[in-house]
Amino acid sequence: MSIRDDFPILNRKVNGESLVYLDNAATTQKPQIVITAMNDYYQNSNANVHRAVHTLAGEATEGYEACRNELKNWFNAGRVIITSGTTESINLVAHAWARANLVAGDAVILTEMEHHSDIVPWQLLAQDIGIELRFVSLNEDLTLDLDAFEASLVGAKLVACVHTSNVLGIRNPIEKIIKMSHANGAKVLLDSAQAVPHEKIDFKDLDADFLACSAHKMCGPTGIGCLLVKEDSFNQMQPFMGGGDMIQTVTISGSTYQENEHKFEAGTPRIAEGVGWAAALKWLSKIDLHSEHLRLLEIARWTAQQIKDIPGMTVFGRHADGDSAVVSFIHDSVHPEDMARLLDARGIAIRTGHHCAQPLMQRLGVEGTMRVSFYLYNNQAEAELLIETMKGIVERFS
Ligand code: ALA
Repeated sequence: MSIRDDFPILNRKVNGESLVYLDNAATTQKPQIVITAMNDYYQNSNANVHRAVHTLAGEATEGYEACRNELKNWFNAGRVIITSGTTESINLVAHAWARANLVAGDAVILTEMEHHSDIVPWQLLAQDIGIELRFVSLNEDLTLDLDAFEASLVGAKLVACVHTSNVLGIRNPIEKIIKMSHANGAKVLLDSAQAVPHEKIDFKDLDADFLACSAHKMCGPTGIGCLLVKEDSFNQMQPFMGGGDMIQTVTISGSTYQENEHKFEAGTPRIAEGVGWAAALKWLSKIDLHSEHLRLLEIARWTAQQIKDIPGMTVFGRHADGDSAVVSFIHDSVHPEDMARLLDARGIAIRTGHHCAQPLMQRLGVEGTMRVSFYLYNNQAEAELLIETMKGIVERFS
């Protein structure tokens, strides 16, 4: 059995051709075990959590809390708040921590390679409470300018930084960033959405204050993610969304709140998705992520080189050790969407556009790019088919 055999979707045809799915940075496919776990939950155990004493309610609560326990083990984390994904996790830091602990004039450091989900929440907060946003620029090779970063830290209270860029695949030197930030008295929030599928993170060892990620980039369901929080920061967070499940008591004159992670999980949570994510983590734990990452990075390096050799192509990113298996590129005469549609006609799925990183596009001087991103079930033969097909398209259209 190979990893591919666990993914039923890989058997389907797209436009009469075998599917070659190279849009994994947008979302990964789901192994059968995840699909089965979620179906089984709905068929046999569906109920609400943390409320009733009947058997189904107990099974639903157990299934949902098992996800939190799996996450605590997977990340070696003490506090795991379950959210709808990376975006909600970052917004939660903005509203539950930053709004309560920052004042007008406090600086939040961002980078030019942030995803919109790590820019817009801070812009909204800046409008509300007057925090200052400082964007760290990139070097010529598109890595983060660490001198500019160090200079920006004076008076900073929070550094909100992407761990691995969804466009460039560049992994930022987060260990160094965390040390430098802490030495200057700033907390660190990592957007690790693109990093968690490729590296096993030990949250306690890493020493970040907050880490946001999503299940669907690591073979789990859409609509669920988490925020890992260090204990001292957790204790500084104020409730953000009010409602059921997050309270201890409610009277008409006021309410008291849960003391654990439920305080930040108002309303009926994503129970089936939690069951699915727990199944995905169990499945992933049987895979040697590090070896797989090295294999995928080699495929990405080969692909990047081949693309560079096609006349008219420009590739962004460096594909150094630790970077993710993502290749972004443009052609000087074939429009990204034309290329993507022609590839789709051959069953090959890639992503095009600004990748929710418009400031980075502005830095690159482009409106958008084509992007291929590899994951566990991809192989060299698929990369070769991609290159051959793109060469044919470029010859026909340029
Ligand atoms: N942020 C996701 C991507 O890069 C959706 O495609």
